[in-house]
Amino acid sequence: MSILLSSYAVVRPLLFSMDAERAHEFTLKGLNTVHQSKLGKQLLPKAPVANPFSLMGLSCRNRVGLAAGLDKNGAYIDALGSLGFGFLEVGTVTPLPQPGNPKPRLFRLPQRQSLINRFGFNNDGLNIFLDNVKDNAWRKNGGILGLNIGKNALTPMEAAVEDYLLGLAGVYEHADYITINISSPNTQNLRELQGEDQLGGLLATLNEKRKQLSDQHQRYVPIAVKIAPDLSQEQVKIIADVLIQNDIDGVIATNTTLSRASVEGLAHAQEQGGLSGPPSMHYLWKSYGAYESSWEAAFLLLALAVLTRRRMP
Ligand SMILES: Cc1cc2nc3c(=O)[nH]c(=O)nc-3n(C[C@H](O)[C@H](O)[C@H](O)COP(=O)(O)O)c2cc1C
Repeated sequence: MSILLSSYAVVRPLLFSMDAERAHEFTLKGLNTVHQSKLGKQLLPKAPVANPFSLMGLSCRNRVGLAAGLDKNGAYIDALGSLGFGFLEVGTVTPLPQPGNPKPRLFRLPQRQSLINRFGFNNDGLNIFLDNVKDNAWRKNGGILGLNIGKNALTPMEAAVEDYLLGLAGVYEHADYITINISSPNTQNLRELQGEDQLGGLLATLNEKRKQLSDQHQRYVPIAVKIAPDLSQEQVKIIADVLIQNDIDGVIATNTTLSRASVEGLAHAQEQGGLSGPPSMHYLWKSYGAYESSWEAAFLLLALAVLTRRRMP
């Protein structure tokens, strides 16, 4: 383990003395500074763990990926890449910049190693995102980069597809894969896009656009859809069919959950937003089971919460 990671026990009390969102920003900036310094060469892992596997036709160095949301603007790709990940996903980016929900909007539940967030896609918008992701060394050196796109809060749901089209066209040439995020609980009505008719319409349009972009750039970029954990088995089966009909390459299971069953009674448990961390694990396996049983074709599932599995009670 690198010195940086083993020093977490020392740094943790300092981070936990700060507001959670401030700690988040402080950590990313600190990592960036270390990465850019000479000291970084000593502190950061020398090379990622080599355990290569194939993901939607892409070769990843190992199976541990970074989920979207930590680096919403794609501003820390090389610094995060230096930690040894097999693949990175950044975003969610929306076409226009937006501030997200009022603060505070990130809450710790340390007893369950969990967070509740209601950030609401705070980000600097597509133009700045593209400036950030264009020139990273991570991809140039063979790292796999997923770019995650969403809709602006002020875009009416009837026009959501326009936001995803802008996102898809903007990020296409800079992405190894693209994630369509329709499952954040923090953008009003977004999860309605998981309904059969809306999802079918959205994905058919995006798949058409992907064909054009793939001709234009002479490169096929896989698309994954990120789903919510708060779905019935029946809904998951319907989504599975719609994804297959529209040539979607992968599923990211899952986003944060609205359920509070596993954190009942804890401080902050009643905050609005999505819960993540070990308590959301059983939703992951529930979705996995439903997908496995409903799909004949071997379909990829990116399980973004697997690291925490061993800590489940
Ligand atoms: C603070 C925070 C912000 C997040 N922001 C996003 C986001 O912008 N887009 C997205 O697709 N998922 C976002 N997520 C969801 C994570 O990518 C991940 O799917 C979720 O946290 C479940 O995995 P975990 O239990 O291992 O954290 C966010 C999660 C957290 C905790």
